[in-house]
Amino acid sequence: MILSNVVATQIPFHAEYNGVVPEIASRMHTEWISRVVQEALDNASLRPGDVDAVAATAHPGLLGSLLVGLSFAKAFAWAKNIPFIAVDHMLAHLYASRLVYSGPDPSTTEYPFLGLLVSGGHTIICRADNFDDITILGTTIDDAAGEAFDKVSKHYGFGYPGGAVIDKLAKTGNSNSFNFPMPNLHKGDHRCDVSYSGLKTAVVNQLAQFRVGPEPEGGDRSEDIAASFQKTAVEILLRALFRAVEDSGLSTIIAGGGVAANSYLRAKAAERQDLRFVFPPLELCGDNGAMVAGLAYKYLASGERSDLRATASARVRSFKRQYKGR
Ligand code: KG4
Ligand code: ZN
Repeated sequence: MILSNVVATQIPFHAEYNGVVPEIASRMHTEWISRVVQEALDNASLRPGDVDAVAATAHPGLLGSLLVGLSFAKAFAWAKNIPFIAVDHMLAHLYASRLVYSGPDPSTTEYPFLGLLVSGGHTIICRADNFDDITILGTTIDDAAGEAFDKVSKHYGFGYPGGAVIDKLAKTGNSNSFNFPMPNLHKGDHRCDVSYSGLKTAVVNQLAQFRVGPEPEGGDRSEDIAASFQKTAVEILLRALFRAVEDSGLSTIIAGGGVAANSYLRAKAAERQDLRFVFPPLELCGDNGAMVAGLAYKYLASGERSDLRATASARVRSFKRQYKGR
């Protein structure tokens, strides 16, 4: 059960740069972390002494920000002499929807299933055999899905963060105004991979080339660019995912990460009535503490603890193979 879930957004501080500035991010984490933890405790009507264990994200992510959370959590655990658990960011995204799942215990009854993890830094299509055990079937060979939204939005000055802005603009746009290209990644090892750099280049540098029909009077509408881009971006993702469905024979897909909030992705997923898609509620799609705590609880329940020497790393060690979160 989620007792409190405080998300301190830094969006206004990064908006003027149209993207996350790592130095600002880690500085603000340092300035805010005590207050955020205090607020989380207050919302749950708890005192520091009531906490049984502390978790933090160790990887992947921006190193400076990860180190702030990790150091704080380790110090808290050490001071209170309680277990400390370091978790993987992407496994936490995969766990997010399970926090509010209301069926039989999902964590023991439903594996294996497919995971669709789509954030600003990662795009992962995987088979999940347990909460801490995924095998990566597909990933991006260049930009992450969220990154493509952010870059297109930045180029056209739509706003920041790009995904949410494009999602909103696209609602009043014509998604057939442009016929953007899809990557050609259907062979061998790349069957379930995605690529976004071609789409990004087409949208940013070759707009006229992919316009369907003449240029409208007054120039291209932002809404039409947004809708056409979003349609192709989601098609790229779903095409790779549906290949993973075919190859694996699995028909339950659990989504997570900021891009899982996308309304067009959700609508297209709902069209496949032969598949069971599970999306987290919107507030659990983007980065949040509840998903980290939820995943950590699984480790705690299975008797696992992290060493206080656990450190942060910016990247996951390897893609396209079995991925143990720790
Ligand atoms: O998981 P997240 O909060 O942070 C990372 O781990 O990166 O994901 C952030 C990403 C950003 O790229 C943002 O533009 C994207 O998620 N995003 C969306 C939407 N809301 C956030 N992308 C598409 N549609 C949305 N509605
Ligand atoms: Zn994330």
